Amino acid sequence: MNRETQICGLGFFVPDKVLTNDDLEKLVDTSDEWITTRTGIKKRHIVDGEACSDLALVATRNALRDASLTPRDLTHIIIATFTPDTYIPSAACVLQKKLGIKDIPCCDVDAACTGFIYALDLARGLCALYPEANVLVVASEVVTSRVNFNDRSTCVLFGDGAGAAILSNSAANGAVVEDILLKADGSLGELLSVKGGGSAYPLRFGQQADEDFFVQMQGRPVFKHAVRFMTNIAREILEKNNLSVEDVDLLIPHQANNRIIEAVAKKLGISPEKVFVNVQDYGNTSAASVPIALAEAREKGRISPGDRVLLVAFGGGFTWGAALLKF
Ligand SMILES: CC(C)(COP(=O)(O)OP(=O)(O)OC[C@H]1O[C@@H](n2cnc3c(N)ncnc32)[C@H](O)[C@@H]1OP(=O)(O)O)[C@@H](O)C(=O)NCCC(=O)NCCS
Repeated sequence: MNRETQICGLGFFVPDKVLTNDDLEKLVDTSDEWITTRTGIKKRHIVDGEACSDLALVATRNALRDASLTPRDLTHIIIATFTPDTYIPSAACVLQKKLGIKDIPCCDVDAACTGFIYALDLARGLCALYPEANVLVVASEVVTSRVNFNDRSTCVLFGDGAGAAILSNSAANGAVVEDILLKADGSLGELLSVKGGGSAYPLRFGQQADEDFFVQMQGRPVFKHAVRFMTNIAREILEKNNLSVEDVDLLIPHQANNRIIEAVAKKLGISPEKVFVNVQDYGNTSAASVPIALAEAREKGRISPGDRVLLVAFGGGFTWGAALLKF
C-alpha cells in the first residue's frame, strides 16, 4: 500500500433552505428546548427540489478548485450515499454527466453514516492500484427524502448536504491518509433501518408508502452502540499506529448528536477544544457529516499544516470506522 496517498482537495455544500427547531415545532409535538438539550441541534439545511447529485456537484466543484484540478483530471468517482437520485443510474454516473466528463468508472457505495470513511478506504485502494489516479470521493445525502416528518423521534435529527475529497499520490501538499480502520456488525441492523423500496420490502405498483419507507430507529441502543464503537475504534487505530490521544490535534466525529460526541471525547480523554462540532448548524447529514466537518474545520482555521486529524464515524448496518490524516 502506498503510504503517501493524500487528500489534495476538500469541499462541501449544504442547500440554502434552513429548517430551524422553531419550524419543527410547527410540524410535530416538539420544542427547541427538547431538541437542543437532547441533541445540540439548532437548525439543519434541507433541499428544495435538489437531488443527491446536485449537492455532490457543488461540493465537487469546491474540492476541484481546492485541488487546482478540473473534472478532466479525475480518474474515478465514488459517491457514498444511502439516498442516491435513483437506484439506476447511480448518483456517481449522474454526477459524471453533470461534470461533463465520460469514460471514467463511477459507482455508489452505501455504508450509511460511515460511508465517507468506507469510500476513502476504497479510494486509497484505487490509488495503490493506479499510481496516476485522482479519485473523487463525495458523500452526498438528501436524508430528508427518507425522513418521516410525522415522526418527532427521528425528523428533528437529520439534514441534507455533501462533502467531497480528492485523493491522489502526486499532490504537493495535501493531507496524507496515514491509516483507515473499518468495521461492521450486521446483527445490529434492525436498530436503524430504511426498509421500504428494497427488494425485501418491495413497493407494489399503486401502493402507498408507509413508515417502512422512512428512517426508523431505536434511539437509546443506537446511542449506546455509537459511543462504544466510536471510542473503541479511535483507540484501536491509535494503538495500531503507536500513537496516543496526545498525538491527535483535532478529532472530527460523525455529527449525529452532541451528547454522543461529548461522551466519546470524555471516554477518550481528549479535551473539548480538540473536538470539532458543527451538528448545531447541520444536524445529522449521514455520510456527508464527516467530510462537511473536515472541510469546514480547515476553512475555519482549525487545522494547520503538520496537524494530525482523527476522523471517526458510525452508522446503520451497523458500520463504523476511523481514519488518521496528517496535514
Ligand atoms: C433520539 C434521541 C435524541 C432521544 O433521546 P433520549 O434521551 O434517548 O429520549 P427517549 O427516546 O428516551 O425519549 C424520551 C421522551 O421524549 C419523547 N420524544 C422523542 N422525540 C421527541 C421530540 N422530538 N420532541 C419531544 N419529545 C420527544 C419520547 O416520546 C419520550 O417520551 P415518553 O418518555 O413520554 O415516552 C437519542 O436516543 C439519540 O440521540 N439516539 C441516537 C440517535 C442517532 O444518533 N442516530 C443516528 C445514527 S447515525
